[in-house]
Amino acid sequence: MAIKTIRCYPDPVLREQSMEIKEIDSEIKELSEDMLETMYESKGIGLAGPQIGVTKRIITVDISGPEKREAPMVLINPVIESMEGEEESEEGCLSFPGFRCNIKRAAKIKVSFLDLDGNRREIESDELLAVCLQHEIDHLNGKLIIDYAGKLKKAMYEKRLKKLKKRAAKK
Ligand code: NI
Repeated sequence: MAIKTIRCYPDPVLREQSMEIKEIDSEIKELSEDMLETMYESKGIGLAGPQIGVTKRIITVDISGPEKREAPMVLINPVIESMEGEEESEEGCLSFPGFRCNIKRAAKIKVSFLDLDGNRREIESDELLAVCLQHEIDHLNGKLIIDYAGKLKKAMYEKRLKKLKKRAAKK
């Protein structure tokens, strides 16, 4: 197992369209372990392949939190099969340190995916799990939380990033 570096915005890999996983081999199993470990270590509840630079359709989720680690999930080639209702909540993202944003998403979703044994499975979710799954599946399509933010909020974050970059360059 290895802890990977989290890619942060505006790293272009975060904008890529991730590829379908054709075969669940040892490489994918190892990747899923690395992703879970990296997610926990970064105090996150969800992580998508591109966030560690791997543009493959795989996400990890554990809404029990990075301390409890009670409900680790690995979803391969996840697809949203149905959506219902609407709910707004505040979201953060490991690829956007210090940035949070209110996002309206479906309140309930049904997601189909492959598990690590290659079985097609389906999960119904609401509340935090539904938010988390939609957020991570967005990552696989190159969509990021900043895309939901207002123009002003986006501009302020970009400005802050530029300042941090300048400061880092001086060191
Ligand atoms: Ni994220």
